[in-house]
Amino acid sequence: MVRPSVLYASVLSGAAFILALSAFAALAAAALAADAERGAQFARRACLVCHAVSARQVSPDPNAPPFGVVAGSRQFRAQGARLLWEKHPRMPNFALTGDEAADVAAYIKSLAK
Ligand code: HEC
Repeated sequence: MVRPSVLYASVLSGAAFILALSAFAALAAAALAADAERGAQFARRACLVCHAVSARQVSPDPNAPPFGVVAGSRQFRAQGARLLWEKHPRMPNFALTGDEAADVAAYIKSLAK
């Protein structure tokens, strides 16, 4: 006979598993929905003060690498959207949502040749 507490625990862990699965599915869907065109528009509003956003520009802030260069960097290819957060430790207002970061990363990726 299965003790009720054991049964309860396995039902709980099953539920946790399903929850984790659906969270993963939602993340995967968000990654699939990343939109380079939306990312380009966002970048022109939020990043262009410092970074060259399109291939033909020069960065207004010489310390900020042009996105065309970022696109080809090993770090960006390894980290993608995460790099956007990591590289701006001194910008307190730099708060991208996950979707915005994914869109901009998709746009930067599209610049890679
Ligand atoms: C106020 C200026 C400024 C703004 C605005 C800004 N950045 Fe930056 N960004 C920098 C500087 C300066 C660096 C270089 C920092 C470093 O290398 O440590 C940098 C680095 C980066 C890097 C890393 C490049 C690499 O290859 O190491 C990425 C990616 C990046 N920015 C993306 C963005 C995106 C996307 C936006 C807009 C959503 C943005 N930045 C807005 C100044 C800015």
